[in-house]
Parts: sequence; structure tokens; C-alpha cells
Amino acid sequence: MTFPRAFVIGQPIAQSRSPILHGHWLQTLGLAGSYERIEVAPADLASFIASLHSAGFVGGNVTVPHKTAVLALVDNLDDAARAIGAVNTLWFEGERLWGGNTDSVGFLAALDQEAPDWDAEARTATVIGAGGAARAIVHGLLQRGLDVRLANRSHATADALSQSFARLPAVHDLAAMPALLNDTDLLVNTTALGMQGKPPLVLDLTGLKRGAVVCDIVYAPLETDLLRDARARGHRAVGGLGMLMHQAVPGFARWFGHRPSVTPALRALLEADLRPR
Ligand SMILES: NC(=O)c1ccc[n+]([C@@H]2O[C@H](COP(=O)([O-])OP(=O)(O)OC[C@H]3O[C@@H](n4cnc5c(N)ncnc54)[C@H](OP(=O)(O)O)[C@@H]3O)[C@@H](O)[C@H]2O)c1
Repeated sequence: MTFPRAFVIGQPIAQSRSPILHGHWLQTLGLAGSYERIEVAPADLASFIASLHSAGFVGGNVTVPHKTAVLALVDNLDDAARAIGAVNTLWFEGERLWGGNTDSVGFLAALDQEAPDWDAEARTATVIGAGGAARAIVHGLLQRGLDVRLANRSHATADALSQSFARLPAVHDLAAMPALLNDTDLLVNTTALGMQGKPPLVLDLTGLKRGAVVCDIVYAPLETDLLRDARARGHRAVGGLGMLMHQAVPGFARWFGHRPSVTPALRALLEADLRPR
């Protein structure tokens, strides 16, 4: 008997939580299918992608360090992957391999679920960081009509990100952050700062606009200092786990034919896995 097989590729890949997510959905929806973690070295990426169809895969996820290299290896790109310049989801339509990017819809869906109406009156978003995740988030926020400002350690990287969008986000140094807070409606940390094993994000939120929502896409630890501080000051705060769960929904729907839900049970499963033992 054959059943749909999907995968996540990266190097390293042991840390990926995606198999937990997709395994939970396969099990709770009672679907026959598999989702495998596969370590692929950069030198083997092209041959792995070329072998997908004959190996019987229906698609999969792509993570570090392959998200940009895969752009050139697919037959078609969706609009988000083209705009963001990175692919995180692969699927077949007939024999043609598509590459898409679900990080921006995942980020927005998490905000919509965890901070309802966050954008009802929001005008200005301040995004800290200018890496791959920031690209997806800036794309999503611009699509929602927000003015976006970027603050990053490396000015050149942030400039390059800004230049790739038609409505250029303004670029600032990290030192400018305190001055940007008083008219920030949404503050997003997209850097690795605050992540386990990395330095903390040092940012005094005293001047942050009343009612601003704070989001940190770091999910290990589950509650970063930034989120704790924001909550203590009365701001709504959204962690990174929601983005991780929601970005997985479109891929699962394509591969296995059912649109899964992001539920408290799924969150609890991931939180248990992420909690220090
Ligand atoms: N929740 C989710 O679903 C999700 C999805 C994707 C990523 N993430 C998380 O988002 C974070 C960034 O991922 P990414 O893929 O965008 O990584 P990336 O492309 O490597 O970008 C890293 C960003 O962090 C900044 N940074 C790193 N170390 C720094 C330091 N010591 N001081 C100041 N800035 C520093 C970099 O600044 P420079 O440009 O100056 O180097 C850059 O802006 C990671 O923690 C990742 O786990 C979460």
C-alpha cells in the first residue's frame, strides 16, 4: 500500500520540531502518511531535489541552510517565495515541483489568533533584525498595509532587505531603537537574540506606545525576556511558537489533502518538547 510521504530537509536537522507537528496532525486526523526528517548536505541538495518524484515524495519543508539554494531547483515559485527570496515548502502539481514560502502567512496567522484585531488601528511596525525570517515578516506586514521600519546590527544587510521591497522600509541602527518605540504599534524581534545559548536582547520598553503589541519569533525559550517585560508593562505579547505552527498548515494541506488546525493540544505538545528537562 502506498501513502503520501513528506519530509523536512536541512543540516543539521535533528533539532527540527516539524515532525512533531505533522505527526500530530496525521495521527489526530487519522490519515495514512509520513513526515520524515532528512539530513541533506549542501553538496547533495540538487540531487536530492531531482530524485523527489521518483522517490515517491509528495513534497516537504526546507530549512537552514537550503532555503535560498532551493529557489533555483524548482520548476515554479509562488508569489511569496519570489518576494521573500526563500523557499520553505515544496509540493508537486503533476510532475512540476513548486516552491513556496509560508513564513509570512504563518506569522500573520499567529498574530491574528493570539492578538485578535492587532492591526485594526496599527499603522507602524518596527522589526528588529534583517535575516531570512525578517524578510518573510516584512513581506507580510507590507501586504497588510503597515509602514515598516527595520533596525539591525548590520546596516548593509538591512539596506539590502529594504531595497528588495517596492515600499522601502526605513533602516535604522539598533542604537536608534528607543527613539522608535513611541510610535510603534507592533514591535517584532526577528533576531536570534534572546534564544537559548545566544545573548539576550537588551531593550528598554519604557517608551513603547500604549497598546502596542510585542512579538518575539524566538520560541526556545518559550517566554523570552522581551515577552515577559512586555506583558509586565501591560502589552499584548506573542511568542514564536504560533508562527512555527501556522507556517506548517499550508504544506500539510497540500501534501495530505486536509487543512489541519492549530489547537491548544498541539501547542501543549510542542511546549512539553521545548521545556527544559
Ligand atoms: N517562530 C518561527 O517559526 C521562526 C521561523 C524562522 C526563524 N525563527 C527564529 O528567528 C531567529 C532568526 O532566524 P533567521 O533565519 O532570520 O536567521 P538569520 O537569517 O541568520 O538572521 C539573524 C538575524 O539576527 C541578527 N543577530 C544575530 N546575532 C546577533 C547579535 N549578537 N547581535 C545583534 N543581532 C544579531 C542578525 O543581524 P546581522 O544582520 O547584523 O548579522 C540578523 O538580523 C532565530 O532565532 C530563529 O530560530 C523563528
